[in-house]
Amino acid sequence: MIKKKIIIINGPNLNLLGKREKDIYGKNSLDQIELDCIEVAKDKDLTIDFFQSNNEGEIIDKIHEVEKSYDGLIINPAAFTHSSIAILDSLRAINKPKIEIHLSNIYSREEYRKKSITSEGVDGLICGFGPNSYILGIEAITKLIYN
Ligand code: DQA
Repeated sequence: MIKKKIIIINGPNLNLLGKREKDIYGKNSLDQIELDCIEVAKDKDLTIDFFQSNNEGEIIDKIHEVEKSYDGLIINPAAFTHSSIAILDSLRAINKPKIEIHLSNIYSREEYRKKSITSEGVDGLICGFGPNSYILGIEAITKLIYN
């Protein structure tokens, strides 16, 4: 079987995971989370590319590549979740399985985090499971791609 290919896109400040607000986001670095994702994908006929940027335009350009180059997308838009209609519009333009994830439970935090603008452009949202949100995202997108 030809392996399906997905991309996991991480937004601003997620390059600082493991150093930043550890009480909220945990001690794992983004590199460690990515290694765990690769391990899980091995059993699922899935290959994963990773992309992180602190720049809204770069994230949008990467989302545009999904239609042509990938079978699905997992995105943690980080703070852009709560503000970026531009990222929402780019997600809406992609006709592939799409999952939004967050490490923290954004609905149990500050008022300004309780609204996800970007989730209106994806198939589903997983949040609150720490690094396991990424693993659950892979489970969910595998179901969407293969079922
Ligand atoms: C986050 C939640 C956002 O509100 C925040 O701005 C982040 C990380 C999360 O994964 O929990 O940077 O997306």
